[in-house]
Amino acid sequence: MDDLPAQLLDALRKARRVAVLTGAGISAESGVPTFRDAQTGLWAKYEPTQLATPEAFARDPRLVWEWYAWRRELCSAAKPNAGHLALVELEKRFADFTLTTQNVDGLHLLAGSRRVLELHGSIRRYKCFDTGRLLEGEPPHCDNPPPRHPQTGGMLRPDVVWFGEALPEAALMESLRAAREADIYLTIGTSALVYPAAALPIEAQRAGATVVEINPTETPCSKFATFSLRGKAGEVLPAIVQALGE
Ligand code: OAD
Repeated sequence: MDDLPAQLLDALRKARRVAVLTGAGISAESGVPTFRDAQTGLWAKYEPTQLATPEAFARDPRLVWEWYAWRRELCSAAKPNAGHLALVELEKRFADFTLTTQNVDGLHLLAGSRRVLELHGSIRRYKCFDTGRLLEGEPPHCDNPPPRHPQTGGMLRPDVVWFGEALPEAALMESLRAAREADIYLTIGTSALVYPAAALPIEAQRAGATVVEINPTETPCSKFATFSLRGKAGEVLPAIVQALGE
């Protein structure tokens, strides 16, 4: 990674309000696969319409359940990496700090970030497919998955947002507020292709924020970014924290 721009460090030192958007790239160094990276991305190997839509679940609930059970295992085995931990440190520095994530792996919360908005839900929670009622605790054992919600009797599904579904309203509204009020907006490890999440850095830029992209490759967001830091989140973020500490 190249040296951090002095102007960026200066802007960060002066900033009061910082908002962040993360995507699958921040968890890549924890061993959680991304979606769109060639070869290793989940959508390079699997067809989203067969696995990540309500129609897919209605058609073949067992297949979808088992695919998410496999991903949940991956996420449960994963540990927060240096990028997640650096964001915990950044949160402590700013009076107003909002972290919006598209990730369902729960690693920001596990790392210790406090104000986390999970825009696409969490693979660590379940809800009833029919009523949306959340399950408290773990799903009951079941020989013929998916198991049923003990209270509603409906099939259990992961509490994640599937294609064609609405995002959690409160998390989206709060993410938009944070983007519009931010002095600095960091967009980290996301291909910036999935809306409405991808609109957040654009909203921030329109409202006058300094937009900083951290990603090894260019994305559609790069043209909105004031600074594009081409590197891994697990290297660039700790470097920022260290530079601010000096
Ligand atoms: P993608 O897989 O689309 O993009 C991952 C991004 O991370 C790419 O731009 C990579 O270049 C970058 N990347 C890879 N390794 C990195 C690293 N070590 N540090 C920083 N960046 C790195 O993932 P998302 O943008 O999160 O939605 O995908 C958005 C949504 O599409 C997901 O939330 C999911 C998916 O379909 C739902 O499931 C609703």
